[in-house]
Amino acid sequence: MSGLSGKIALVTGSSRGIGRGIAERLARDGATVAIHYGRDRPAADEAVGAIEAAGGKAFAVQADLASMDDIKAMFAALDERGGRIDILVNNAAALVSAHIQDTTEEIFDRLVSTNLRGTYFITKYAIERMGEGGRIINISSNCTRVAYPEVSVYGLTKAGIENMALGLAQQLGAQGITVNTVVPGIVDTDMNASWLSEDTKSYVHGLTALGRLGSVEEIANVVAFLASEQASWVTAQTIEASGGCRI
Ligand SMILES: NC(=O)c1ccc[n+]([C@@H]2O[C@H](COP(=O)([O-])OP(=O)(O)OC[C@H]3O[C@@H](n4cnc5c(N)ncnc54)[C@H](OP(=O)(O)O)[C@@H]3O)[C@@H](O)[C@H]2O)c1
Repeated sequence: MSGLSGKIALVTGSSRGIGRGIAERLARDGATVAIHYGRDRPAADEAVGAIEAAGGKAFAVQADLASMDDIKAMFAALDERGGRIDILVNNAAALVSAHIQDTTEEIFDRLVSTNLRGTYFITKYAIERMGEGGRIINISSNCTRVAYPEVSVYGLTKAGIENMALGLAQQLGAQGITVNTVVPGIVDTDMNASWLSEDTKSYVHGLTALGRLGSVEEIANVVAFLASEQASWVTAQTIEASGGCRI
């Protein structure tokens, strides 16, 4: 399938985990993918190599999402390659597990600057480079729907980007740009490495209607649909790909 041929996609946090799965899928669908990473250049290079080995097109771009200077430098690098962005997937995020009583100002500022301010301004600068038919897809979490008090700041950053999507869908509709949100269930990535063991996996299976963890490919399938021409009439929607987690 090459439905995204000629399109340029920027996928934040695509050096590993869910973002890498999304990048590989969009590249397989024909897009040229900017593999964004924060710190791990070798992982980004490996993701680019895997896409190229499969016959796709990709290149790496760096920005710590907490640094506005980095974000501006990343867009300058994208501009040197033509600057147009057709598909933006706001996937990168940092997670710190902390109830409110354990949340320091440093944790709060780090998560808000990375997940919320970084995502907000990447979106602002991407919109300036996006035309008719553009796609913005944000990756959120079901902690905006059910209570997870142990991720109090992470949760409010996800609620923030969901709210951003609603307003932008209204504003950008006139330009033919859609804005949607995908909510993954629990996927075995580095983000969950500190707590996912064989025991906790079976606990997660019990919380999930389909009785298992998801894969990065199952999240990427939904993103690929929203990025495609088939989703031209879908905007301002939040779609959960969680196997029915905590329904
Ligand atoms: N995994 C799950 O179960 C799950 C469930 C619900 C929602 N989600 C959401 O899905 C998305 C992807 O999660 P994941 O599990 O794939 O995460 P992950 O494996 O921890 O990967 C995170 C990615 O984000 C980048 N990143 C992190 N902090 C950054 C920063 N300050 N600046 C720039 N890049 C940064 C990392 O790049 P570097 O390594 O180069 O820094 C990496 O590419 C996130 O939005 C997450 O909230 C995940």
